[in-house]
Amino acid sequence: MASGKFITFEGIDGAGKSTHIPFVTELLRARGLTVVATREPGGTELGEGLRELLLHKKMHLETEALLMFASRREHLAQVIEPALARGDWVISDRFTDASFAYQGGGRHLALEKLDALERWVHPHLQPELTLLFDVPLEVARARLDAERTPDKFEQEKADFFAATRGEYLRRAAEFPARFRIIDSTRPIPEIQQELRGIVAAL
Ligand code: TYD
Repeated sequence: MASGKFITFEGIDGAGKSTHIPFVTELLRARGLTVVATREPGGTELGEGLRELLLHKKMHLETEALLMFASRREHLAQVIEPALARGDWVISDRFTDASFAYQGGGRHLALEKLDALERWVHPHLQPELTLLFDVPLEVARARLDAERTPDKFEQEKADFFAATRGEYLRRAAEFPARFRIIDSTRPIPEIQQELRGIVAAL
């Protein structure tokens, strides 16, 4: 039996990943694969409780990073690892790259600390593929303005998102075999066409 793969979706708020996750999930299901679609922070009952705190309460930067990884530890134990062990595919709306981008890039937490947390929480597991939905800040901001009430992260200023995007792109350059950068300024059908090609090659 073919074994399951772990795919993560990343990008700054407003980059459009939420539009494309259901599309990719359906492409995989149409191939007869069992797909677990999940998200971070969250993905478990405990993790969703932590998400509520993380998205709405002010807290120390290191508390924020530790809670992101606490949510991730639970998510790995309860959802991701069992699914992969069963041979299912896992699609996660964000994973550890988001901690590097937001807490590291956006909030300037030392990357060594995030490296240490990553080594602690998932020393042997990395996504097989990370789709980075990339747009310039102005495009992302314009999309967010049209949305519902912004959460704690969405209320951040332009320089925060510039640094967040910068760290995502740095990670993509550091791990080129795992990352695919998707130019998310293009019309949705064009992006879907590219995603079809990527999924077909998996
Ligand atoms: P997001 O995934 O964008 O959900 P929604 O589309 O409902 O707004 O929101 C999650 C937020 O959490 C997002 O702003 C990024 C942030 N985040 C971090 O700062 N660090 C992390 O490790 C993760 C997983 C998310």
